[in-house]
Amino acid sequence: MGIMSGKRGLIVGIANDHSAAYAIAESLLKEGAECLFTHLPGEKMQRRVARSVEQLGVANPWLAQLDAGSDADLDAVFARIGAEFGTIDFLVHSIAFADKDWLKEGVFAQTPRHVFTQAMDISAYTYVAMANRASALMPSGGAMIALSYYGSEKAVPGYNVMGVAKAALESSMRYLAMELGPRNIRVNTISAGPMRTLSAMAVGGFSDILGWVEKKAPLRRNIDGSDVGGAALWLLSDLSRGVTGQNVYVDSGYSIVGL
Ligand SMILES: NC(=O)c1ccc[n+]([C@@H]2O[C@H](COP(=O)([O-])OP(=O)(O)OC[C@H]3O[C@@H](n4cnc5c(N)ncnc54)[C@H](O)[C@@H]3O)[C@@H](O)[C@H]2O)c1
Repeated sequence: MGIMSGKRGLIVGIANDHSAAYAIAESLLKEGAECLFTHLPGEKMQRRVARSVEQLGVANPWLAQLDAGSDADLDAVFARIGAEFGTIDFLVHSIAFADKDWLKEGVFAQTPRHVFTQAMDISAYTYVAMANRASALMPSGGAMIALSYYGSEKAVPGYNVMGVAKAALESSMRYLAMELGPRNIRVNTISAGPMRTLSAMAVGGFSDILGWVEKKAPLRRNIDGSDVGGAALWLLSDLSRGVTGQNVYVDSGYSIVGL
């Protein structure tokens, strides 16, 4: 018996075993959660996510296709979960997207409209879209998290339009928390420090950011997936039952330093 025994939820955002969502799934599975997963459209993507999930010891994982930019896909995933399971207890939103040509120093002011709106859509709006559909499957309450980054509140060189989208994500989290709270559904974000993942590599100067954290953060180290996994487990379990509407920093303390 683990602290997540008897709880079932959807995890969106595993691309490979470096993904934040992979580490979150690992910590939830260890504590007895039942996890459902999605993959980007296409058989190759399906195989890739299935392989990662099987690595976590889940044989024949439950997998559904999801391009989060498609309302039809979103409807289909949550309708299928409703039909097959009835209810869920948690949701993990661990996705983001922005055209990497605009994630480097010196180009923010020129960000084209379609790049800006796509980053906002996939990286922020989808939390609202998923929360709405997931909450309909949480008749006796539940918990949700999404992954954010410090570039939402400070101008981090190269993070650009993604920082703007993360600000919208964190604000959306607060409005969702206020609206879903009366139904005992808790909504939070984790502001994670930099980690070497597929998406992170698209951010210009990412290695410099890692080096800076190691030098300046109170813990003098970068975080890894297990740090995020532990915080996610707390936020999705009953241990955090009084916590909602919060942006929880898992960043070795970097965000408190005023240098
Ligand atoms: N790696 C970091 O340094 C870091 C730091 C703070 C926050 N985050 C956030 O963590 C989350 C997960 O990113 P990661 O670092 O694990 O990278 P990752 O590349 O492993 O995961 C990103 C995921 O987003 C998914 N995705 C992109 N567009 C999608 C779409 N249209 N529909 C469905 N899925 C889509 C990808 O398939 C992938 O699984 C993101 O929100 C990211 O911004 C990452």
